[in-house]
Amino acid sequence: MKEFSGRVCLVIGGSGGVGEALVEILVERGCTTIFTYAANAAKALGIVERLRGSGSIEALRLDATDYRDAQRVAEYISKKHGSLNHLAVLHGLSRADLWRASWDSLSLEDYLEVFRVDFGGFFNVVKAFKNLLERSSPASLVAISSTPALVGDIEGYPYLAAKAAVAAFAKSLAYTLAPRVRVNIVALGSIETRWIEWLDEKTIERIKASIPLKRIGKPREAAEAIAFLLSDRSSYITGQVLIVDGGEVVPT
Ligand SMILES: NC(=O)c1ccc[n+]([C@@H]2O[C@H](COP(=O)([O-])OP(=O)(O)OC[C@H]3O[C@@H](n4cnc5c(N)ncnc54)[C@H](OP(=O)(O)O)[C@@H]3O)[C@@H](O)[C@H]2O)c1
Repeated sequence: MKEFSGRVCLVIGGSGGVGEALVEILVERGCTTIFTYAANAAKALGIVERLRGSGSIEALRLDATDYRDAQRVAEYISKKHGSLNHLAVLHGLSRADLWRASWDSLSLEDYLEVFRVDFGGFFNVVKAFKNLLERSSPASLVAISSTPALVGDIEGYPYLAAKAAVAAFAKSLAYTLAPRVRVNIVALGSIETRWIEWLDEKTIERIKASIPLKRIGKPREAAEAIAFLLSDRSSYITGQVLIVDGGEVVPT
């Protein structure tokens, strides 16, 4: 029997780099896998086509900033499957200009735009799916944060602030949703997804040199950590942050 057989999983932002790797793992391991995309329907369709032969997979469009849209997807899954065992919330805004800008060149509106998607989307999704998760057994939720959100950085200010809010909120949910739903956080360092395209070779080499494992992480390596925290292998773990960053940040 496969690890996720008989389980229903939902990946928010499954059309992204880490999301696609997680969807692949869940399908391979027997999960009835639903994932969402926002704008990139062609990529989502491609993922479905590629993995259809390996198991149960479905793609749905969802704008996480719209609570009613999240409710619509929750009602659809409730009607079709009756339960939701594992929810991974991976979506995020990806804008190079907001990442690179110095903290004080941005307006509060710029910061709130990132908060609207990263934190607001997380809030909407958890609120919409909470009842369905609580009715399902077992149930687990994984949120995504980032290492700069934990230790600070010299760039990406709006992102690290929004991801810190996600982590703090998710930790509190771990108390509130216990014992029915386990809630954990994966904090990512540098993972090879589309943001790498923003960088020149020199910058990529500098990033690699600053990482103890001397390389940028693969999406599958990040996805394995998320799958672990969703699965029964982590059945006595809740409210924790698992850092996946090649050793860049060593917590004291
Ligand atoms: N990659 C890294 O090094 C790294 C480091 C730290 C933290 N993270 C975080 O880890 C998560 C996954 O990263 P990634 O690099 O795989 O991201 P990515 O490739 O940029 O994918 C982002 C995903 O979010 C979706 N999305 C964007 N806006 C949305 C909205 N309003 N509602 C719902 N979905 C929306 C996108 O959908 P469409 O493409 O269909 O529009 C896509 O599926 C993100 O939260 C990111 O901030 C990543």
